[in-house]
Amino acid sequence: MALNESHKQYLHLMGVQPWELRNARSDAHPPAVAQAQPGEQSAEERTAAEAHHSSVETVSIPSAVVNSTSAQGPSSDAVAVMDWEPLQDAVTHCRQCELHQSRTQTVFGVGNRQAQWMVVGEAPGADEDRQGEPFVGRAGQLLNNMLYAIGLQRESVYIANILKCRPPNNRDPKSDEVAQCEAYLKRQVALIQPKIILAVGRIAAHNLLKTDTSLAKLRQKTFHYADTETPLVVTYHPAYLLRSPREKRKAWQDLQYAVSVFKKQK
Ligand code: URA
Repeated sequence: MALNESHKQYLHLMGVQPWELRNARSDAHPPAVAQAQPGEQSAEERTAAEAHHSSVETVSIPSAVVNSTSAQGPSSDAVAVMDWEPLQDAVTHCRQCELHQSRTQTVFGVGNRQAQWMVVGEAPGADEDRQGEPFVGRAGQLLNNMLYAIGLQRESVYIANILKCRPPNNRDPKSDEVAQCEAYLKRQVALIQPKIILAVGRIAAHNLLKTDTSLAKLRQKTFHYADTETPLVVTYHPAYLLRSPREKRKAWQDLQYAVSVFKKQK
């Protein structure tokens, strides 16, 4: 099958060397696709990894809601009406699960608060815990390249995780941790109102979709996030792709699929 230019570009950015590219130049430029805005990770590899829409209404927080803030953090009802500043503040000071004891800092999320694309990963790793930003390690570099391959700069999207704190030794998130953190991500999605959510990796997909179906069966399908109309597409976690480079071709199919879903959005 002949490779088009954007596919070749993707393969190059992803570190895949198809025979078509042998002896090809190695300098990379962003592909001219999806200009508007257009999975799975091991625990160990996790380490190797803001103005909102004018249509988004935020409300001032009634004192009764503010008062529902417990010693550990605000109630999910309180979080559900927060604007960015109180939301970030609530995350920074959250002590609702045991992860606050071992974190260096919280990892709120990063990027364009008017993004059309939102990427959701699993949880901060060591690099992210140190720097306070999601996907800054090796997996983050690959994620940047995956986005670049479909014409997206990291800065143009919004990137967040299921968990805002690093699980010790990069173990999988526990269900109570996910539950305690859920309201924060939900509010981020509500404030951003992305046109598409890209869930990277099994943990993100399972927790966003409340399913335990294998990632292989979840990819190349359109779901919707929680009780919203926001389409959600699943692909492999970049840390998994670092470990299993052969799967990068499937990830390219998923990215192309996500672009096609995005383009159908108004
Ligand atoms: N892996 C994730 O899922 N999220 C990060 O922020 C970093 C690595």
